[in-house]
Amino acid sequence: VGGVKISRDDVVRENDPTNNVPDSIFSKIGLQLHRRDNHPLGILKQEIYSYFDNNFPGLFNKFDNLCPVVSVKMNFDDVLVPHDHVSRTYNDTYYINAETVLRCHTSAHQAELLREGHSYFLVTGDVYRRDSVDSTHYPVFHQMEGFRVFTPVDWEASGVDGTSYAAMDLKKTLEGLAQHLFGNVEMRWVDAYFPFTDPSFELEIYFQGNWMEVLGCGVTEQKILINNGRAGSTAWAFGLGLERLAMVLFDIPDIRLFWSSDLRFTSQFSSGQLGVKFKSFSKFPPCYKDISFWISESFTENNFCEVVRGIAGDLAEQVSLIDSFTNKKGMTSHCYRITYRSMERSLTDEEINELQGRVRDEVENKLNVTIR
Ligand code: PHE
Repeated sequence: VGGVKISRDDVVRENDPTNNVPDSIFSKIGLQLHRRDNHPLGILKQEIYSYFDNNFPGLFNKFDNLCPVVSVKMNFDDVLVPHDHVSRTYNDTYYINAETVLRCHTSAHQAELLREGHSYFLVTGDVYRRDSVDSTHYPVFHQMEGFRVFTPVDWEASGVDGTSYAAMDLKKTLEGLAQHLFGNVEMRWVDAYFPFTDPSFELEIYFQGNWMEVLGCGVTEQKILINNGRAGSTAWAFGLGLERLAMVLFDIPDIRLFWSSDLRFTSQFSSGQLGVKFKSFSKFPPCYKDISFWISESFTENNFCEVVRGIAGDLAEQVSLIDSFTNKKGMTSHCYRITYRSMERSLTDEEINELQGRVRDEVENKLNVTIR
């Protein structure tokens, strides 16, 4: 189940080159923020549950405790992700070993739940992606997947084909959900691409002056239904990121706050209270440190960000490329600016210098670059 702590020694062979999960990520497995009643993510999950319960009493089965360690087959093959899709790379996904990953989306559970006989379900869980460091990206976040199967009796009377029927029902259901969460907002549908749905859409809402992407969705590929015992039916699926919505609904300015155990954060939220605005406690000053190096072929920004996070943890607020050039010999230099800031206290010069020193050492030792 999903709440179990996993230690590296239990699952990774020593020096296994097919593993790229650092200890900083292992330490997050099993925390299950989405199952805490008084946490913004738990409150949002419950509110989405209420919408489905009110509109479709007893229909949707809910899962929020499925294990985030899944096979490559579940995460990618079963949902038809092509072999050359970027999401399969070691740069984007955390591999425990060549056959096992930390799920990068809750869609990893579609096929198994269909095979178990479920036709209507909501799956909430922690998902893992290698990514950059800034106020809206964190290598662990939370998604909710929705799935609904239709059989011919559902659409025959309507006069439209099964795919159109599923698409119409999907849009109606999700517009209702967006209204339930955000009130009377402007919405628009944007065409999208996902390997597991066709047609595919993104829902955007107009919020505080910007169009914001709320979720991805679509009509499930026939092949997934056929492969999992549902020939003859159609279905829709959606996946939404809970942090993205919670940041807007609760006015939470930095994604790291979700992981904070500081009472000044945790005490502000209680079960059933969606959208209570977060009152920032005083912001402590940031500290900027630059680092420049000559990169090599194998360099990626995600690898660099992971080094920074591995050392500075949640004290790393942002990593941004501020300069890049290639000299006459064809060597490319990158300069990154790291913003260090604690949300809970002032940092001392000594501790930041110590962190930056360790970042420099590890970048040089592990990333095959030459510090300038
Ligand atoms: N799995 C997709 C993602 O993580 C979201 C999605 C789910 C899209 C279901 C369509 C259908 O981006």
